Amino acid sequence: MSAADALFLGLDVGTSGVKALLVSPAGEVVASATTPLFLSTPRPGWAEQHPDSWWDASLASIRQVLARQPAARVASLGISGQMHSSVFLDGSGEVIRPALLWCDGRTTPECQEITSRVGGEERLRDWACNPALEGFTLPKVLWLRNREPAAFARLATVLLAKDFVRFRLTGTLATEPSDASGTLMFDPARVRWSREILDAVGLPPSLLPVVGGSAEVLGRITPQAAGLTGLISGTPVVGGGADNACGAAGVGAITPGEAVASWGTSGTVLAPTAEPRVDPALRAHTFCHVVPGVWYLMGVVLSAGGAFAWYRDQFARDLAGSDQPEVRLIEEAAGIPAGADGVTFLPYLQGERTPHRDASVRGAFLGLSLAHTRAHLTRAVLEGICFALRDSLSILQELGLSPTDLLLTGGGARNPLIRRLQADVFGLPVTTVNREEGPAYGAALLAAVGAGAFPDLAAAVRCTLTRAPVAYPDPQAHLAYQEFYDRFRACYPRVTPPVRRSPSPRTAP
Ligand code: XUL
Repeated sequence: MSAADALFLGLDVGTSGVKALLVSPAGEVVASATTPLFLSTPRPGWAEQHPDSWWDASLASIRQVLARQPAARVASLGISGQMHSSVFLDGSGEVIRPALLWCDGRTTPECQEITSRVGGEERLRDWACNPALEGFTLPKVLWLRNREPAAFARLATVLLAKDFVRFRLTGTLATEPSDASGTLMFDPARVRWSREILDAVGLPPSLLPVVGGSAEVLGRITPQAAGLTGLISGTPVVGGGADNACGAAGVGAITPGEAVASWGTSGTVLAPTAEPRVDPALRAHTFCHVVPGVWYLMGVVLSAGGAFAWYRDQFARDLAGSDQPEVRLIEEAAGIPAGADGVTFLPYLQGERTPHRDASVRGAFLGLSLAHTRAHLTRAVLEGICFALRDSLSILQELGLSPTDLLLTGGGARNPLIRRLQADVFGLPVTTVNREEGPAYGAALLAAVGAGAFPDLAAAVRCTLTRAPVAYPDPQAHLAYQEFYDRFRACYPRVTPPVRRSPSPRTAP
């Protein structure tokens, strides 16, 4: 096979589905397939998926793209995936129980336990650059120890979603810094597992996989996985990365000075930095990027596209049979004035990370009257998601990361009204790139680097991505949204009991 014929497979193990892409050395997407996933919410605030469902969906998506191109052309594979979600394996590599996801909020007592055991939040800042948050992986391991001791007694390995799929594909237990950063067992500043934290909470380092590079070959397709996927045995699999890091790579946001707003099931605003920068108030996360020597600061809205999908499923069943019900809903909302005639939506359906660090807050519509229609509610949902993203952007700006424009990716990049809404709410010019595939595309670029098609990710980005002209915010609209944003900000204290409203730094007792 000549280098020009090579294809790079990018796989993204998301929350709503697993996407597979085949990308050419010129950056063209020659095949794409997505297999949907179901999210289980056994109790309010809980969120689980069985790792077997990720594996089955990965097999289905890989097989679909290989039905369109011969496997012999696949030079390498890169995987990205939902961050933090805990895969618990026993000594023979069997899954012990469903994974607790990044948006699961059941571990508040374990977060307090961790903070107390390490000796306060300052220690976590020094050792992990981040506080103990319910969504991160370590609290989930302690939850297993505290609540399901029989399952914990079997625990041999803790993996993240994409690393579990790598394990099934290659037999290798491995991760890389961008995903390890979200476990709270990794030190992003020193780029190594945190022996200090593991000792403090009483967990053995043997639970954790080896850490390699995002563009480094960390395993090869086994004969058994080849039989199941149709891939050629021995095909190399690179480290890949966390979905947010791969999503940023997939639009070329790998250099300090840039910033990207992503609208997936979660919503994030992420800005690469040349050193690990930590928010003094720990509202934003500090993680390693998929480029060695680059970190990023990121604010996380737990329910962005997830809130809109919930709204669609609950309030627009009449559109269920129609083509693209979301687009129909957005069209309805376009006829409603900014501010939704007084309706405010708080997208806190699974609690909220940035800026509130509050797993127990819940979503709300406020300001409803008999005069309001579904179109008003839809408008309020879209605006509420943008306001929540602006909370994250404001924190990055407050910390001195002031991008001149913002790259958009995910659902918010694809729709013209949502692009305009983001520009006007953020008060920043926004732009998109010529590829809309998100984290799977970043994973494919890492695979291309690992196969030697490009010397590094920066070269891969230069050769494959082009940016659209920026769209400027409308100054009048931005001014109007400032008032509605202030109204949104004022709502959080109104939906939280006063006891949880006091400043939240969790310190050792
Ligand atoms: C990031 C986070 C989410 C997931 C979504 O900290 O929890 O963005 O990565 O897959």
